[in-house]
Amino acid sequence: MLNVAILISGGGSNMQRLLEDMDETHPGCARLVLSNRPEAGGLAKAQAMGVATEVLDHRPFGEDRARFETELHKILKAYQVDVICLAGFMRILGTDFVSAWRGRMLNIHPSLLPKYQGLHTHHRALEAGDKRAGCSVHEVVPQLDAGPVLGQSEVPILPGDTAQDLANRVLEQEHLLYPKILRTFLTRFEPPS
Ligand code: GRF
Repeated sequence: MLNVAILISGGGSNMQRLLEDMDETHPGCARLVLSNRPEAGGLAKAQAMGVATEVLDHRPFGEDRARFETELHKILKAYQVDVICLAGFMRILGTDFVSAWRGRMLNIHPSLLPKYQGLHTHHRALEAGDKRAGCSVHEVVPQLDAGPVLGQSEVPILPGDTAQDLANRVLEQEHLLYPKILRTFLTRFEPPS
């Protein structure tokens, strides 16, 4: 059984779907939900589902990202985490941290990568006049939103869509895609040497 940590910053709807999927048939066990924001709504949801939570507030660390990431690494090790799922975790992680977890860290991104890495994906897709949008689950590498894509779901962009309409439509697909990809990833998982 592989120990999974889910890192969040907000409402944690993707986190919730991952936790709901982690039943006795699942190759992973939800060991920890960690937020960099104490006010993240996902923390209470995780606790209600009986999952351990931690808060590592990034603010006291100021510009010292390396020290924040050293602390984060320590917590994950203390919980004997094997695999990390970033689920709306709104911190960019540095090269040392990402390298230490390479092959063990997934992220969900609300675009059809390699299109629209970074923020404001839905707005950018609308501005570009795209006909399709979607989401991607990918492995995390030091370059932002650039790791190998493990799966994608597409949705149509409809006439008159606002960025919020599109975000809602894509989020429904995120909720289906991430649990499916995590299961497959863990089933095939071999610890990177
Ligand atoms: C999702 O759209 C995710 O793709 C993005 O942030 C949002 C998080 O939503 N990175 P939630 O916290 O999972 O509800």
